[in-house]
Amino acid sequence: MGPRPEIDALKVYSPGTSLEDAARVAGHDRLIKLASNESLWGPSQKALEAAQQALLSIQYYPAMQLSSLIAALAKTHQLAPDTLVVGNGADEILRLIATVYSEPGTSIVYPYPSFSAYHHSARLAGATPRPIRLGSKGENDLEAILEAVDSTTRVIYLCTPNNPTGGMISRDAWDAFLLAIPKTVVVVVDGAYQEFVEDEEAPDFLQAVRQGHPVVVVRTFSKLYALAGLRIGWAAAPPAVIIALNKAREPFSLNAIGAHAATASLGDLEYFDWVRQQTLEARAHFIKLLGSRSIKHFPTQANFVTLKSPDDDRVTAERLLQQGFVVRPTTSFGLPGYLRVTVAPIPIMDKFMMEWDRMQ
Ligand SMILES: Cc1ncc(COP(=O)(O)O)c(C=O)c1O
Repeated sequence: MGPRPEIDALKVYSPGTSLEDAARVAGHDRLIKLASNESLWGPSQKALEAAQQALLSIQYYPAMQLSSLIAALAKTHQLAPDTLVVGNGADEILRLIATVYSEPGTSIVYPYPSFSAYHHSARLAGATPRPIRLGSKGENDLEAILEAVDSTTRVIYLCTPNNPTGGMISRDAWDAFLLAIPKTVVVVVDGAYQEFVEDEEAPDFLQAVRQGHPVVVVRTFSKLYALAGLRIGWAAAPPAVIIALNKAREPFSLNAIGAHAATASLGDLEYFDWVRQQTLEARAHFIKLLGSRSIKHFPTQANFVTLKSPDDDRVTAERLLQQGFVVRPTTSFGLPGYLRVTVAPIPIMDKFMMEWDRMQ
């Protein structure tokens, strides 16, 4: 017996190479991973302490929704608790939305090249995927996305800053889009990199949720908060959407250790400000280094920079691996000829650039 045809046609998710696999290929383990946009500044000390404390209770099932985490998110983002859901990474929530709102015969519109979960989620739900090319600066092209919406469309995924380009949706484009979108469509804004946005023209997507628009803002603790291994994501949406998502969720998908660590992270404002500042400084520093070498790259508001590879991106990534750096070639996203490099502390970016120069 074979799987459903739409599952059979899918490719297994292609993640940034793990350190273990990279070390095997490189033949040594002196590697720095800049391939999955994790935070090399590491988690808050308070998160680590909360995780250790939570370890003492792992004989119990986790809370379906940890009230202290929901309360902390509500306070941090001025949202009502009934507009929030937490889950096993943003991935779980992104996938759940397609399952809940679409079915065979309907369509899902999303940007391309972008995060693969949108295509994957559409296929899993049996819906027709409708990928729409990015704009010239690597941003989601909201006008083209709107044009692709028809009476079959149930879900639109947006990614801002977009992975793998870093491009951002502007406030004007978002405001016009919100007015034009049919009420029968659920708009999902994947803001996995939202904490790193510096541009004052960036829209406040959560405001649309506060105003009751059919918008789901999806966020994660995997990036700035450095809890990728503990799998905690969250979403804000109108209460009716939250109820529907909770009906379809796996009851115990929320990792207890991760949920307590995430709650503690939100209470550590000093840590948040420090990591954000460090990341923005390192990003500006890296972009300056690229500029001084005339290396083409997309304008980015995320904790990564996607730059032009001098060769086939997969070949350059192999060479960088031999020199100690794991980066992400973007061919698998549908963006051949580029490398996505995570922003890390300045001494690491300097070392990366030194190895890059040596490779030329
Ligand atoms: C745009 C985007 N959304 C979601 C995720 C997944 O986040 P999580 O680790 O919370 O599942 C990623 C991870 O790389 C991402 O780039």
